[in-house]
Amino acid sequence: MEIVAKEAGASLKQAIETRQARVAVVGVGYVGLPLAVEKAKVGFPVVGLDRSAERVASINRGENYIADVDDRELADLVASGRIKASTDFAAIGEADVVVICVPTPLNANRDPDIQYIVHVAEQMVPYLRPGMLVSLESTTYPGTTEEVLMPILAQSGLEVGKDLFISFSPERVDPGNARYTTRNTNKVVGGVTRTCLDIATTFYRQTILDVVPVSSPRVAEMTKVFENTFRAVNIAMVNEMALLCDRMGLDVWEVVEAANTKPFGIMRFNPGPGVGGHCIPIDPFYLTWKARQYDFHTRFIELAGEINILMHHHVREKVIQALGKLRKSVAGSRILLLGVAYKKDISDWRESPALKLIELLERDEAEIRYHDPFVPAFVDQGTERTSVELEAGLAWADCAVIMTDHSRVDYAQVVKNAKVVVDTRNATARVPSGRERIVSI
Ligand SMILES: NC(=O)c1ccc[n+]([C@@H]2O[C@H](COP(=O)([O-])OP(=O)(O)OC[C@H]3O[C@@H](n4cnc5c(N)ncnc54)[C@H](O)[C@@H]3O)[C@@H](O)[C@H]2O)c1
Repeated sequence: MEIVAKEAGASLKQAIETRQARVAVVGVGYVGLPLAVEKAKVGFPVVGLDRSAERVASINRGENYIADVDDRELADLVASGRIKASTDFAAIGEADVVVICVPTPLNANRDPDIQYIVHVAEQMVPYLRPGMLVSLESTTYPGTTEEVLMPILAQSGLEVGKDLFISFSPERVDPGNARYTTRNTNKVVGGVTRTCLDIATTFYRQTILDVVPVSSPRVAEMTKVFENTFRAVNIAMVNEMALLCDRMGLDVWEVVEAANTKPFGIMRFNPGPGVGGHCIPIDPFYLTWKARQYDFHTRFIELAGEINILMHHHVREKVIQALGKLRKSVAGSRILLLGVAYKKDISDWRESPALKLIELLERDEAEIRYHDPFVPAFVDQGTERTSVELEAGLAWADCAVIMTDHSRVDYAQVVKNAKVVVDTRNATARVPSGRERIVSI
């Protein structure tokens, strides 16, 4: 039995080292598509599996839909046959390595919704065979790989660590970050057994400069949720400072700038309208849920969530304050949101604080439009919205609210042409005139 194990593992490792191993990436979204491209670039034959027929068709036409992926690179890889895409899970039967990058949202009760992982695992079972590596990359709570993924995959009858190899390796991609890309961002890997870890680290070393092996999938899972909790908590702390500075009549941006001159013992975080995206508002609550099973209450996470949500309401109050300068009430006012993406220079608007502000201000009977050069249109809660031209939007609005500080927006033009501005990002810091019409958070 041990000999068979060594054979299955050894030949898979060799196929990985020679980059002949066939790679299936399940879920070709923000995480999966860049990963598929990186693997194909170094020579692996890659298939992207997705339930979205639209995404699959787009890849097969060589058409890119993820900002961090180079259009030309994807087109060339598809044209040369190194990347193809499919909706058919039978493609798993052709793969040696399967990387799972499906969503991990919260459900209506704000508990982990791991149905996508479960569904993918169940669909894979009939196609598993000896000598395969399955690596989960979706962010999730510690225990998912061994408590959820592994038992489903074990239904194949394959023995984990002997003929099937399972690992967890969290994706750390920072959308829009040109300095740290998939290749030069260290990658943490945990394997169910030592052989699983060995094979998984070999796989990731083909495309990533620095791979960090850890002792178990649980450690790797915890590492990822810790990292995102670290961000959520620190953003909340600087947001609390912003609320206090506002009460005390101090400029929080000046305080943050000054504190940041300390060469040690401080790390810069900026206040803002709240947190957004698929990660920071969600991932820490995966840990909160798991902690409850250990009679543990994650107080920092709860508090950070509370403060970051409070910021939506704080921005609403700032809009009311700005409209006060015009002697206008919020009901019936026209508000232009500048930026609906959750952070600068990207197109992802999921969980964006702008969505919450729209909801609050529409409840106040304000009329809302938005301008975002990265988000031409989006649908939220059944309502489709389309970005308006900046100039026309500013002429229309009573108040412009800078929610995202996209680099390509001319903030001098915004201040010049808006009646009043609420600036949640300090984007107007260098605009010298019209400051009396700017309300900062
Ligand atoms: N977006 C980020 O910046 C980021 C960063 C680090 C980690 N993550 C994590 O990576 C995971 C994926 O996030 P994302 O942003 O890439 O999501 P995404 O929504 O952009 O992509 C997920 C893809 O999975 C597909 N999918 C869903 N269910 C499927 C199924 N049953 N079978 C096949 N395909 C299916 C969807 O159609 C979609 O194309 C999440 O766990 C997320 O927390 C995301």
